[in-house]
Amino acid sequence: MYKIAQKALFLMDAEMAHGVGIKALKTGLYPPHRQKFSSLKRSLFGFEFPNPVGLAAGFDKNAEVIPAMLNMGFGFVEVGTVTPKPQSGNPKPRIFRDIGSKALINRLGFPNVGLESFKKNLEAFRHWEEHAHEAIVGVNIGMNKDQSDPVEDYKLLIRELSDHASYLAVNISSPNTPGLRDLQKKEALAPFLDELLKERDAQDYHRPLLLKLSSDLTEAEQEEVAKVVMKAGIDGLILTNTTCERPAGLDEKFSRETGGLSGQPLAAKSTDMIRNFAQLTGGKLPIIGVGGVASVKDAQDKLEAGASLLQLYTGLVYEGPGLPNRICKGLDVAKRNAA
Ligand SMILES: Cc1cc2nc3c(=O)[nH]c(=O)nc-3n(C[C@H](O)[C@H](O)[C@H](O)COP(=O)(O)O)c2cc1C
Repeated sequence: MYKIAQKALFLMDAEMAHGVGIKALKTGLYPPHRQKFSSLKRSLFGFEFPNPVGLAAGFDKNAEVIPAMLNMGFGFVEVGTVTPKPQSGNPKPRIFRDIGSKALINRLGFPNVGLESFKKNLEAFRHWEEHAHEAIVGVNIGMNKDQSDPVEDYKLLIRELSDHASYLAVNISSPNTPGLRDLQKKEALAPFLDELLKERDAQDYHRPLLLKLSSDLTEAEQEEVAKVVMKAGIDGLILTNTTCERPAGLDEKFSRETGGLSGQPLAAKSTDMIRNFAQLTGGKLPIIGVGGVASVKDAQDKLEAGASLLQLYTGLVYEGPGLPNRICKGLDVAKRNAA
């Protein structure tokens, strides 16, 4: 069924197709795939995750389709990136597909409705039905393009969103906001995280604070970042965001587009980084593994490398909405076979 819809969607510009998908999901008519797998439950950050497969940031930027994504079988959903003020992002077109390599390149630049509308959407979700407050919904936060003092934007978002977010994901790894990734540098990162943690601790609800990192950090940078995050005392890492590299094998025209590459060509690179950080932190910092997860094997690779939870985005585009549930089924079978 999705294969037919996919043919039509692939005839459209990638961002337009995404918009059509969001509209369809908003109708609430989408058939639920959600199944329960008691073998896949895990406790982390003070929550019980029904399964480890989450929706990665960027798909539901404005917190509009959380119920549909939970119904699709995701164990948790990360919404955003949200910035304090609404912004329109970079000129279109700004999302590109390479069907052959099951990859996307995006240079969106955080288009989103801004804090005020985002917060309304999230609050509406939390009041949507009796159990909505139990759902695990992380909020991915970022800075506006014109902000000269990034820490102010992040602090504002922590203050305003801690009530309704299950966790906060600090995004300093998108390649499409100038200067953003410089916050990952050792000298900038330690004082930045200290300020954010102080702000987090000043709220009524002390939400877990996770840091989302780029897959383009060198080994030396990874070592430095690992030391800083351990010392700062954040709650976890999300590894990884997209890459600016262009591995061999991509369609030539596609490969020339500027932006962050996601999907299958990112899988091994992000898994390597997960393994490295698991070692560097002695397994003490929970890792959400993301990057090219599109099959049970991809999921197992990341869990074996040291991830406690997973996320995916690009896999949905190529494998369809049955993917989270298919991965859960496969993990469940593997677990029972191993027992
Ligand atoms: C179109 C698109 C938009 C994205 N937007 C965001 C975003 O707003 N914030 C963020 O932290 N990551 C964003 N990402 C990165 C994803 O969350 C994820 O880290 C990355 O795509 C790797 O996972 P995947 O291969 O499963 O897509 C975006 C990815 C894509 C493809």
